[in-house]
Amino acid sequence: MINDVKKIDQIIQQISDNNKKFLEMSEKIKCFKEIDNLKIEFLGKNSLFVKLNKQLKELPPIDRPIIGKTLNEFKLFVDTKLEKLTQKSINNRDIDNNSHNSDWIDISINSKIKFGHRHPISIIQQRFCQIFYGLGFDVVEGPEIEDVYHNFDALNVPPTHPSRSELDSFYINDGLLLRTETSTVQIRTMESRKPPIRMISTGKVYRRDSLDATHSPVFHQLEGLLIDKGVSFANLKHLLSHVIKEMFGQEIQTRFRPHHFPFTEPSAEIDITCPNCNGSGCSTCKYEGLIEILGAGMVHPNVLKSGNISPEEYSGFAFAFGLERVAMRIFDIPDIRLFYENDIKFLTQY
Ligand code: DAH
Repeated sequence: MINDVKKIDQIIQQISDNNKKFLEMSEKIKCFKEIDNLKIEFLGKNSLFVKLNKQLKELPPIDRPIIGKTLNEFKLFVDTKLEKLTQKSINNRDIDNNSHNSDWIDISINSKIKFGHRHPISIIQQRFCQIFYGLGFDVVEGPEIEDVYHNFDALNVPPTHPSRSELDSFYINDGLLLRTETSTVQIRTMESRKPPIRMISTGKVYRRDSLDATHSPVFHQLEGLLIDKGVSFANLKHLLSHVIKEMFGQEIQTRFRPHHFPFTEPSAEIDITCPNCNGSGCSTCKYEGLIEILGAGMVHPNVLKSGNISPEEYSGFAFAFGLERVAMRIFDIPDIRLFYENDIKFLTQY
């Protein structure tokens, strides 16, 4: 009996010493590796904790609960302390100048890594591509640095047109400029393919506009071209009405308004009912109930000729959406500048 009491006292003393040793060592922790080592030393398979746990069943039944409880308390204490140390080390590491020290590389920190986001313009580009893929169109790329022929001459833009001026466009030299519209890709596609053609092309275009809430010197367009035998304005109207409904919702109404573009005849601008107020009038649509969303028209015979396509044999239509404008309507973004400021708080909303 006396021997048993002595033995129990000894065990409790051992646990208490172990506890003290653990506390001292935990105060000196400097890195994650040391936290792991501490866990191995005090709770691992060669630890006093595991050894005593195994010996529990050899103790007199009356003493087992007290030793078991003491051991459990010790384990809980070690676990809690190590968890706190890990947390503290993770926090310190964020501001620690020694974070390049490989000891501080913690694979459990993975969850803190933030992955990238699609930009709202990319989201709109992708949605358009999906809609047009479904209609048998394919995506064509064109250069952003363009020659005057593809940007103006081949598109039937008159020599005196203001868009040719250095005040409106960014020239690199006499013959080259940053493309002012994606319509250039129409010509390049016609040059390299025979009809029937169904293509879209999307990318940046550049104009000498001052940056304000609705204008930017660089913005994005999505161009489309369809050429085949017997294509009519009715086909254009039907296709664009369908695409607009797919993009903005089935309840959206469209209005085709006569307009002028040098590269199409007849030409139209297309308005949609304001997605914000459904046509009843609000500040977004300047109380008109409608907003202009794209330009379109039947490809001008001169443009077909530039692309080596006979206007007697073929006809076609073309159109271009301004993607910032579409994204502003869909995501209710009030200012075009937000697209280019790369403010993470703005971008992560979409
Ligand atoms: N290129 C025109 C612009 O940038 C938009 C446009 C209008 C493109 C009519 C077309 C079209 O292909 O048919 O303002």
